[in-house]
Amino acid sequence: MKYLQIPGSDLKVSNIVMGCMRINGLDAPARENLIRTAMEAGVNMFDHADIYGGGECEELFAEAVQMNSSVREKMVLQSKCGIRNGYYDFSREHILKSVDGILKRLHTDYLDILLLHRPDALMEPEEVAEALQTLFDAGKVRYFGVSNQNPAQIELLQRAFGQKFLFNQLQMSVVHSPLVDSGMAVNMHIDQSVDRTGSTLEYCRLNNITIQAWSPFQKGFFEGPFLGDLEKYAELNRKCEELAEKYGVTPTGIAVAWLTRHPANIQVVLGTTRLSRMLEGCAGSEIPLTREEWYGLYKAAGNMVP
Ligand SMILES: NC(=O)c1ccc[n+]([C@@H]2O[C@H](COP(=O)([O-])OP(=O)(O)OC[C@H]3O[C@@H](n4cnc5c(N)ncnc54)[C@H](OP(=O)(O)O)[C@@H]3O)[C@@H](O)[C@H]2O)c1
Repeated sequence: MKYLQIPGSDLKVSNIVMGCMRINGLDAPARENLIRTAMEAGVNMFDHADIYGGGECEELFAEAVQMNSSVREKMVLQSKCGIRNGYYDFSREHILKSVDGILKRLHTDYLDILLLHRPDALMEPEEVAEALQTLFDAGKVRYFGVSNQNPAQIELLQRAFGQKFLFNQLQMSVVHSPLVDSGMAVNMHIDQSVDRTGSTLEYCRLNNITIQAWSPFQKGFFEGPFLGDLEKYAELNRKCEELAEKYGVTPTGIAVAWLTRHPANIQVVLGTTRLSRMLEGCAGSEIPLTREEWYGLYKAAGNMVP
């Protein structure tokens, strides 16, 4: 397992993160087993959100690990707030209330990282900054980050907030790759040249903001995994099998490796609820794909290298 020292912090985190959005689909013993297996494989970071399972996922997680101070010290806990039922809310009141709920459900008195889940079009940077500073001063949150934000949105918040945002969690996989697509087609008259992200990946690299890739196996917006989809992704699946054999892993490991091979030191947030897939994903933590292999997977996914 590869670990990343996060710039501007004392956080040393695995580049594979266990995403906890789906853990309410498991029974208690399976949940315990999955978390234990991830930790034994070297995962030390867990991703939550106040909305996962309507809060149930955080509660079930705390129960599964029998949260106490010695368990707590062994893990880096991240959660998110800002999404409500059908709208986004970065108001001071909502942020503070949400974090109190998260801490209660996780049976802890501090979060290592709080992410602002999705940009609130009505955000007031000074109000957000005040809320985050209050959480920091109270010892409730150690570090902050954002999710699904572009550079200008980050800068807008950053200008008001004295502390650096350390993370940006975004959807990214070999089949969902706007973060790298347009950078390969600058100034061309093709669709790929349209910059859908505002050069977010380059901005994050320039500013030492660690990118976390969510839904590493999903096509579209939760439309199911691309691995095994031979109708739409036959060539990609074939390529993953071929490289899996070369590196002694499974295609799941190769899908993860496509992300971890990127020099931006991307963290991959695995959402699997299966022990076997968790281990297969962890095996992709540091596979040294060659440039030819990385681009080969990208093209096999239907992307163009102009
Ligand atoms: N910041 C955000 O806006 C945002 C949005 C979404 C998610 N997230 C975070 O990212 C994490 C990961 O998201 P995700 O769960 O969508 O990611 P994912 O790991 O891409 O998808 C996991 C799902 O795909 C299934 N799956 C994966 N590979 C498969 C295969 N080869 N065959 C059949 N099924 C397969 C899994 O089934 P099994 O359980 O059976 O393996 C599971 O249901 C979440 O837990 C959450 O922490 C963040």
